[in-house]
Amino acid sequence: MSKTIKGFSKLSKSAKIDWLATNFTHDPISFKETLSSYWNSDKVIQQLHDEFIENTISNYYLPYGIAPNFIINGEPLAIPMATEESSVVAAASLVAKFWSTRGGFKAKVLSTEKTGQIHFFYTGAFEDLQSYFESNKQRLLDSTNDLTHNMRKRGGGIQAIQLIDKTNELANYYQLHLSFETIDSMGANFINSCLERIASQFKKEDIEIVMSILSNYVPNCLVRAEVHCPIDELGKDGRAFAEKFNQAVQIAHIEPLRAVTHNKGIMNGIDAVVIATGNDFRAIEAGAHAYASKDGKYRSLTHCSIDDETFRFWIDVPLSLGTVGGLTTSHPLAKLSLKILQNPTAKKLMEIVAVAGLAQNFAAIKALITTGIQKGHMKMHLQNILNQLGATDVEKTQISNLFKETTISHSSVMTALKKLRSMS
Ligand code: MEV
Repeated sequence: MSKTIKGFSKLSKSAKIDWLATNFTHDPISFKETLSSYWNSDKVIQQLHDEFIENTISNYYLPYGIAPNFIINGEPLAIPMATEESSVVAAASLVAKFWSTRGGFKAKVLSTEKTGQIHFFYTGAFEDLQSYFESNKQRLLDSTNDLTHNMRKRGGGIQAIQLIDKTNELANYYQLHLSFETIDSMGANFINSCLERIASQFKKEDIEIVMSILSNYVPNCLVRAEVHCPIDELGKDGRAFAEKFNQAVQIAHIEPLRAVTHNKGIMNGIDAVVIATGNDFRAIEAGAHAYASKDGKYRSLTHCSIDDETFRFWIDVPLSLGTVGGLTTSHPLAKLSLKILQNPTAKKLMEIVAVAGLAQNFAAIKALITTGIQKGHMKMHLQNILNQLGATDVEKTQISNLFKETTISHSSVMTALKKLRSMS
């Protein structure tokens, strides 16, 4: 028995599982059964998933749901969401319906710039570096012609290249800072390939390249989504609701402890669509939270105003998304999601994803300032608790009826199930 191994990646899938089962489990048979029960019966699909990463031994499912009734810039859309959090799709659906009779969501891409940097160290005179950069600038850009050819045909490519002096923050540190337009692709591979090519052409004896990589901070790849309506259309106590809602948003604007949770709720909606469409949710998360701190303090990504009896609620969020390339083109469900979304351009997907974030935040704040969050959460969570307790379908129906008007907790459900079972 050895808990470390050489050449694991070279083993077959079943040899990998055998090694793992022997060394890291107490019940190899059920371990293998669980893993294999998540394999796809279609060998082609399974192979596709096996090849997405290294050392694949099974698939990890996430529920894939639909939030219907979104109206975005006048167009009705049903939004696919991949998430494990029980209330997310229900909340999105409710909010979509609510705003569908109040003018729907408006969304607009404000900018689409992406950037990447070549980080390097240089100890000579700045003027010499500057003149080397200026006299070689065109050669550096031309060196990427084969890489940028297709992108340029579609109207994208490298937009600018600049030399940046960072030596006041770190001795001898400079950057080549490049901006890109990547049209419908997220562009990570494109950007990184261009950067590495330029770095290889730029380096010389006295220029020590440290690394070349895109930035996931994309404050100039920004989208705005919003809803607005007259206050009295918000419901019976429209003004009181609008004012309390506004207070909740103001709190998240000035109090980072609240802002983190507030923005987490926004990301519940954003990530679910980002994952469903095969985009990179870690990049989106990192960029969104950095943007939330752009003025030196972590703040809410959403904003609210009440002017002239009009309630307005909006989000500005940086989203670097693609609708071609990467997983968007190779994952069958990502492709399907894009079909459901009527094959959007990357810009349109930015609008949809921002709307999903705004809707989720609207649902959370509405619940928080009225009934509290637990009512809806626990209602959705009830099925999870019942599954954990091994309830049958009949028991699930009976317990769900019982808890229609009662507060749900793990222990109260357990007690009710015990009681039910003792009676039968
Ligand atoms: C839970 O996943 C998200 C919320 O906490 C967001 C919020 O508090 O605004 C409900």
